[in-house]
Amino acid sequence: MTEHDPRLDGLRGVAPSILASDFGRLRSQVEEVVAAGATVIHIDVMDGHFVPPITMGPIVVEALKGVGAVLDVHLMIDRPERQLADFARAGADVLTVHAEATPQLHYALGQTRELGALAGLALCPGTPIGPVQETRDALDMVLCMTVNPGWGGQRFIPSSYDKVRRLAAALPDRAVVQVDGGVDLRTIGDCAAAGATSFVAGSAVFGTGDPGQAVQDLMAAAAAGRSRPA
Ligand code: DX5
Ligand code: ZN
Repeated sequence: MTEHDPRLDGLRGVAPSILASDFGRLRSQVEEVVAAGATVIHIDVMDGHFVPPITMGPIVVEALKGVGAVLDVHLMIDRPERQLADFARAGADVLTVHAEATPQLHYALGQTRELGALAGLALCPGTPIGPVQETRDALDMVLCMTVNPGWGGQRFIPSSYDKVRRLAAALPDRAVVQVDGGVDLRTIGDCAAAGATSFVAGSAVFGTGDPGQAVQDLMAAAAAGRSRPA
């Protein structure tokens, strides 16, 4: 990976999760948040095994290609190394695999970069940060689950702030620390103060009457948190 990949800049900021969007008008909902300033779109892939629900596959990524934002694909699937090529071909810019989903974690991260995507590693709330320390040179992003994966609209787990702090300290500056789950106007500032730089928000964006305005309000709250002493 080159020293500075511009997709790392896009990845920082508020990442609206389409899981909470109206799929009947997916493309226009995404265009609306991009027009409001979102530089990254979060796509939650669930397989019915790693987590109970089944959501979407590569064709949804393909449908969002060219929308003008980094396509950030969160793979909540078992043995993700078998699917990486299909998602990369569909246009994924970032592919995030779960530490709990494969014994071939280091291999999966390497494959991701070889396919030309940024490599993300996700940790469930109960998973210690060890896998991040063991693979830090192979990582572009760590996704810290701040709810248990599988569903939108859950409550933020408060012990996550400390975990985010530890993750940020364990990673080089170029790596992105993303929080995912229960991120809203009440929690985003403290996440930023703890060291998170990418903020996934589903219901706090698409669950409101004005998703574009919600993105801007969340961005402002994150910026306020960032400038606060941790
Ligand atoms: C949950 C997903 C999240 C989800 C977040 O497993 O990984 O990305 O969309 O939804 P909210 O923001 O509603 O908690
Ligand atoms: Zn997600």
